[in-house]
Amino acid sequence: MRITSTFAETRDLARGGVGLVPTMGFLHEGHLSLADAARRECDTVVMSLFVNPLQFGEGEDLARYPRDPEGDAALAEAAGVDVLFAPQVAEMYPRAPLTRVTVAEMSERLEGGRRPGHFTGVATVVAKLFAGTHPDRAYFGRKDAQQLAIVRRMASDLSFPLQIVGVPIVREVGGLALSSRNWYLSPEERQRATALSRGLMGAADAAEAGVTDAAALTQLVWDEMAAAAGVEPEYAALAAAEDAAPLDVLDRPAFLAVAARVGPARLIDNIHLDPAGDGFAADRGVELTAPSLLYREGRGRPYVHAESLEEG
Ligand code: PAJ
Repeated sequence: MRITSTFAETRDLARGGVGLVPTMGFLHEGHLSLADAARRECDTVVMSLFVNPLQFGEGEDLARYPRDPEGDAALAEAAGVDVLFAPQVAEMYPRAPLTRVTVAEMSERLEGGRRPGHFTGVATVVAKLFAGTHPDRAYFGRKDAQQLAIVRRMASDLSFPLQIVGVPIVREVGGLALSSRNWYLSPEERQRATALSRGLMGAADAAEAGVTDAAALTQLVWDEMAAAAGVEPEYAALAAAEDAAPLDVLDRPAFLAVAARVGPARLIDNIHLDPAGDGFAADRGVELTAPSLLYREGRGRPYVHAESLEEG
């Protein structure tokens, strides 16, 4: 594996079909499943590792975002990444960008309503990664379902000649969706946070049994979260997979999304529902059988409790 810090070096190392896996590092099994998918389908796997200041709002956790460059390099290499592109802020943003990419309407919904400017930061950096690394395919997790929809639309609107691949959510033992920020939670908080996935699984059961009313499905998840000690639900919503628009009825590919505060963190999770045909199975993601490598000894900085940590 080669570690690069400029777009030019990264492009020079590409051979054949290039698969890009954009990340902000502090890698876990969710990121590695994207790299696995890229490894299977591409000749050169490029993983980017960049904590993008543009997508963090005022008062969010940019300065405290967990970092572990050496651990990330070892994990990326073991996952078969060929090129780890880890630019400095000066390579990505030599000047404050006057050009920003906003995917209108879609960026205002759900997470966008709570995090003004967040998706413009995401779409801008992802467009730069596409322009600078020339991938044939780019891999994104369904964990961030709205981000996936926005990136698909941005790539299509701007005619980037590549395919966007969505990859199922990887969950910790017990169901909690993996996120670099889970590392901030105490074991007890992680246990409490399983209310999110438990609620989603219950709603997925109901959807599979024929419930299509969005209010009924969201109520199931909300009740499960509201009943859990230490969990403050923020929203539960059914949204179209294509554009994150709110749905009253599950009548097209959709995701049931939740956000909640647990201890110091704001967590998001969702389940993908595609009601096409007779009977369907929700995509519940995949669950690990052993503790995540997020909690390995010696990972990153010593354990700290930060005051407020948003999903990035
Ligand atoms: P980050 O949070 O590091 O996530 C990088 C990629 O990993 C995203 O596509 C995300 O959806 C995926 N991912 C995270 N947790 C996952 C899980 N449990 N299962 C499956 N996939 C998971 O998302 C970002 O970074 C940034 O916004 C980025 C796209 C890199 C732009 O800065």
